[in-house]
Amino acid sequence: MKLFVTGGAGFIGSNFIFYLLEKHPEDAVLCVDALTYAGNLETLAPVMQNPRFRFVKADIADRAAMYALFESEKPDVVVNFAAESHVDRSIENPSIFLQTNVMGTQVLLDACRKYGIQRYHQVSTDEVYGDLPLDRLDLFFTEQTPLHASSPYSASKASADLLCNAYFRTYGLPVTISRCSNNYGPYQFPEKLIPLMIANALADKPLPVYGEGLNVRDWLYVEDHCTAIDLILRKGKPGQVYNIGGHNERRNIDIVKTILAILGKPESLITHVADRKGHDQRYAIDPAFIHRELGWLPQTGFEDGIRKTVQWYLDNKPWWENIVNGEYQTYYERMYGNR
Ligand code: NAD
Ligand code: TYD
Repeated sequence: MKLFVTGGAGFIGSNFIFYLLEKHPEDAVLCVDALTYAGNLETLAPVMQNPRFRFVKADIADRAAMYALFESEKPDVVVNFAAESHVDRSIENPSIFLQTNVMGTQVLLDACRKYGIQRYHQVSTDEVYGDLPLDRLDLFFTEQTPLHASSPYSASKASADLLCNAYFRTYGLPVTISRCSNNYGPYQFPEKLIPLMIANALADKPLPVYGEGLNVRDWLYVEDHCTAIDLILRKGKPGQVYNIGGHNERRNIDIVKTILAILGKPESLITHVADRKGHDQRYAIDPAFIHRELGWLPQTGFEDGIRKTVQWYLDNKPWWENIVNGEYQTYYERMYGNR
């Protein structure tokens, strides 16, 4: 099988490529990535010499470039990870989120229609469902939960999901969608909660917790997300949405304290800063459907996963120090300077 993996120089896409090349020796991957601030070719260095892997720098919203690639490469399957992915950046400037996440998805869907495809898989997020109240622990997101996005990021992802459903219903394109909870693990860009807190703690810098830190996220180790997507590609049903999550809900403040404890750093580094606008309270996935239909279950528990993740950031300092010492400093100052 020849897979066209977009956004493969980012966090989850790169982990997926490593997983796939290892697990399926008969498959080949063409990675298409625009190398935005979040894309990093260094991440893909371990597979660059692999004869079953090829990298092309291109924007998924560039119709001519995508059509030319589909025409010459004839992929069997497309897995679309490419996106603008950070909620805080979407609050600052929504436009690029619509351009990449919505228009980019439409271009890929059109290319699939034009050149034919066995499967188009859209990597979506639980954030399309909006949030759940903190005092209703009995509520979970199922595949039937109505879309109710809160941020420009989640609105753009929900729009892309609607387009995917429309291309399935209208044109019969074999589309699947997965909506996963928050991921953590190696190669996550240090603007996101877990790597940001690890990097700051290691530098003895303040750890900026939004509001009281009582918001809840449902954390999944990235490799478990990759195994779920792989199963959906091979055994999933076209037209179907699959929720992915491992029932691992934690308050932000507890995540931060866990990281400090693992690193042996003091809780006095925690600094409460102004809350995010429109901050979603709680995300919680009900993964019963993917378990029942495809037999998927997560393999990495949180205690194990967070230790492995912290260790990875300790062992791979040059990877993230390059980032935090570069252009990222301007972002950090803008976002946290007088918060
Ligand atoms: P990321 O920001 O780390 O990586 C995104 C990648 O997409 C980068 O390599 C970037 O260069 C590339 N990209 C951006 N715009 C592009 C464009 N126009 N054309 C081609 N490439 C482009 O994101 P991530 O955390 O790896 O997320 C990947 C996908 O998974 C996203 O679609 C996101 O919505 C979804 N998702 C993420 C999480 C999470 O917790 N991180 C959870 C559920 C779903
Ligand atoms: P994030 O990693 O941005 O993921 P998302 O908003 O997509 O869930 O944030 C996770 C949670 O951590 C979210 O509730 C916001 C909070 N947060 C902080 O408290 N401080 C920070 O510096 C960041 C980046 C996030």
